[in-house]
Amino acid sequence: MESLDLVSPYLYKYKKRSFLVNDKMRPKDLDDLLDFELRPTDVFLVTYPKSGTVWMQQILVQIMDTAHPEQAEGLSNRDRVPWLEERSADNPFRDRPDPRMFGSHLPFEMLPLDIKAKQVKVVYVWRNPKDIVVSSYHFAHSWVLLETPKSFEDFFDQFLNGDVYMGSWFDHVKEYYAQQDQVNIHFVQYENLLKDLRGEVVKLCAFLGKDLTDEAIDRIVDMSTFKSMKNNTTANYKDLIEKGRYKEETMRKGVAGDWKNHFTVAQNERFDRVFKEKMSNVPITCTWEISQ
Ligand code: A3P
Repeated sequence: MESLDLVSPYLYKYKKRSFLVNDKMRPKDLDDLLDFELRPTDVFLVTYPKSGTVWMQQILVQIMDTAHPEQAEGLSNRDRVPWLEERSADNPFRDRPDPRMFGSHLPFEMLPLDIKAKQVKVVYVWRNPKDIVVSSYHFAHSWVLLETPKSFEDFFDQFLNGDVYMGSWFDHVKEYYAQQDQVNIHFVQYENLLKDLRGEVVKLCAFLGKDLTDEAIDRIVDMSTFKSMKNNTTANYKDLIEKGRYKEETMRKGVAGDWKNHFTVAQNERFDRVFKEKMSNVPITCTWEISQ
């Protein structure tokens, strides 16, 4: 086995990011993805982990598959939006009819080169990073491929150092932001989905070139609320608990501002300092909380 640059027994570093030791992907497999051939009709859903991936999967499959709902029957959203960085060759869903969708957490420079060459559509969902720390902390207790954090304090440090699954949030968002003029990319803020789900679905339809009726849009919104998804087995990943891969539900709270229940005043001040320093040249405004 090739030697890996270990961050911990669970994570290895490659090209400044952290990948799972206990997953099948190795540096060579990741490099091979650069040449993975895309079709101009493909759609990519890209996120930093815990930014609302599963939520956007549910929205996208409904917008994209209205043309041929039979393709969706009996499939989970995971199969309808297969993960790019899950060993390409063995995934039967890679070769399905158009329009294909793919999910990825990879940084831009590790995505297939065809993304730029063929101007493939990319939907990038981002979320305020304080809530991502909290969501990731809970997720690290759930997913068996991740190390259970020793404490929140410890995990908080690892997050700020980028020593967590997929590396630094700051780099991820910054690098995608920098590509906005060269890539066919649509940014969606998790908190805007919380504030105005319908409005964001309408914008997504415009980006994806889908002219849906008001009734169809209403249905997508109804089917994509936290409550509805929590009870929908094709959307909520609960089967992975039965399969022993997750210990807890991923549909945890689905709010903006839960970090306030976890951060100390000192941690919050430190986070704000790091945010200011790392994001000084990126004109994005986070929504840190939404009152219930
Ligand atoms: P919390 O852990 O804060 O509850 P990902 O899919 O990228 O792993 O992100 C998971 C986060 O998205 C979880 O956040 C989960 O609850 C939230 N989420 C999933 N579906 C949602 C929905 N319909 N509405 C609001 N939040 C949702």
